[in-house]
Order: sequence, then structure tokens, then C-alpha cells
Amino acid sequence: MSRKIVVLAGDGVGPEVSAQAVRVLETVSDKANLDLEFEPALLGGAAIDAVGSPLPDETLAACRAASAVFLGAVGGPKWDTVPVEIRPEVGLLGLRKELGLFANLRPVKTIPSLVEASPLKNERLAGVDIVVVRELTGGIYFGKRSRSADEAFDTCEYTVGEIERVCRAAAVLARGRRGRITSIDKFNVLDTSRLWRETASRVFRAEFPDLEVEHLLVDAAAMHLLSRPADFDVMVTENMFGDILTDEASMLAGSMGLLPSASLGDGGPGLYEPIHGSAPDIAGRNAANPCGAILSAALLLRHSCGADDAASAVEAAVDAVLADGIRTRDIAAPGQTAVGTAEFGQAVVERLAL
Ligand code: IPM
Ligand code: MN
Repeated sequence: MSRKIVVLAGDGVGPEVSAQAVRVLETVSDKANLDLEFEPALLGGAAIDAVGSPLPDETLAACRAASAVFLGAVGGPKWDTVPVEIRPEVGLLGLRKELGLFANLRPVKTIPSLVEASPLKNERLAGVDIVVVRELTGGIYFGKRSRSADEAFDTCEYTVGEIERVCRAAAVLARGRRGRITSIDKFNVLDTSRLWRETASRVFRAEFPDLEVEHLLVDAAAMHLLSRPADFDVMVTENMFGDILTDEASMLAGSMGLLPSASLGDGGPGLYEPIHGSAPDIAGRNAANPCGAILSAALLLRHSCGADDAASAVEAAVDAVLADGIRTRDIAAPGQTAVGTAEFGQAVVERLAL
């Protein structure tokens, strides 16, 4: 039976990096007989331009009917003047909410051949292997908000149920890894964070007594991510803290362009996207790093196709390309000639051992 993958290439560098991820998936599908089928659909600015909505009904229906959804990136200065209710980002947030994708997994690993690409001291980077689990359908992204000429507010809201389910997902993940979990909040200031810490503590104590649990304030966590990154295993946090901390964490790996993500709910199709944005400054120039997108495709194979071997093969192929010194512009050493987005994708395909 074929598996349908909806591809939302989106805006900016989205189409370029998506093309490389799809090319890798097509190769894997042929070699491992996965019978993947790809269906393009519109999201974000591309959808606004075509049909006037950042999340057209047909896109949502196609995503609901799919085995998995792959997304490039959305947004860009071109849509800065559209009404806020139909900004490109609204399409992405709506899709996450509609598909119930409450757990956003963002693995952060240092790649030995790339330690020079990180601005951090190399000795700090040895053994960094973290998964940040970001709550994705609640918090300040989705709370009540209002704006008038001289006043505005956004509200952060969480329910016990929302906190429990994402903490459970993170704890299950930690069990399959090094058994450590760090929950991050702003307990000393915010009521949502006090509810978060109480709920997280209760769930871990009652259901996961085998895990080593740590609670950190988000400001301290931002510091510890740089001073002792190798200590962390799974980190779980609310929506906006997770957004900010994962951009920071990407510099442990060396570039925003490197990190993948998987957004999962209770069954149903998962959504796979690099954590980077649409990078309008380099769009259309074959200059973007497709690693985040290709590694997101690996997560798609693992979490939505049950194809763990194929996922590992893609990850190994990316490692092999990097170990061979092939670099896109963002991670090239000073003076080194960088390859383009498509050439990097080709190099990954050539190294796929399946
Ligand atoms: C991300 C992005 C999005 C977010 C934007 C594009 C809405 O920054 O996926 O990290 O804030 O969630
Ligand atoms: Mn972000």
C-alpha cells in the first residue's frame, strides 16, 4: 500500500531545501520499497499569493488524509503588509493546531567533523546529544490577544492536560535514551510555569520514577545550554521557550540550517520541517543548507513510516557528506569553496547505503 506524503514547500528557501529532502526520500523509497507518493500543496505566502489564504482548506484536507507532511519554510518580507490574520505564519500555526501536533521534537547533536563550525569552544561540544521537546499547540502562540493603537496584549494559557501529554511524550523519549529529563519553565514569575512545574513533577514522580529529573528556569537553561550542553538528554518546555532555546541550541551544532524537527500528536500524520526559517536573503540562489530538511526527512521515515533502518541510513549519509568536507556556505571554513543546495543533496543521495 502506498504512503502519501504531502509536501508543503512554502516560501523563500523552502522549495529549494524541500526538493533535496524529497529527492532523498524518493531514492530511499525506491531502494527500500517504501512506496512513498508525493503530493504538493500550498501553505504560507505561496498559498496567500495563489488563493488568498495561508492555509487553504484543500491543503488541510490533503494533510489530514496523508501519512505524513513535509514542510520547507514559510514567510518573508513580501507578506509583511498583509493583514495579521492571514500572515504566512498563521498558516503554519493553524496546521500544527488542526493536526493536534503538540509535541515538537528537535534533536540537537554535534557532528564531529563540524565542531569548527560552532562558535563555541570545541571541548564543550564533545558528546552533545539533546532532544528538545517543545510544546507546540498551546501557550502564548495561541492565547487571547488584542491590539489597539497604543496598547497590546498576548496571553499564555496552559491546561494540566496539555502539560501532562507533552511531559509524557518527553519522558517516554528519555526512557529510550539516557534516562535524563530537564523541564524548563519560569516558575518564579509565571502562573503557567507554576502549573507546568507542579504537573511535570507529578507526572515524572508517579509514572517515570526511573528517570533522573531536573527543573530549570528558562533564563538559567539558556546559560547552561552553553556552559554544559553535554549534560542534557531530553529537555521539555512550553511553546515559546522551546522556540527560543532551539535557535540557541542550533549553534551547538554550528548552524540553524542543520537542525530537523518532527511534530507529533496522538496518531494521525506527523509534520516534519527544518527549524530554520525561509531565509529570504539567500532564497533562489542554491545557497541554503538542506541538512535540516534532509534530516527532517529521516525523522519522517522513522516516526511516520516505521522505517528506522532507512532513517539511520539517511542520517549516516549526511554524516558521511560532512565527514568528506563537503559544506554549504553557512558551515564552510574560511576560504573553503562551498557547494550549492542541490549539490549537497546529490552528495547525500550518492552516499545512501541501503
Ligand atoms: C519555528 C518558527 C515558527 C515558530 C514561526 C515561523 C511561526 O520560528 O518553527 O521555530 O515560531 O514556531
Ligand atoms: Mn523558531
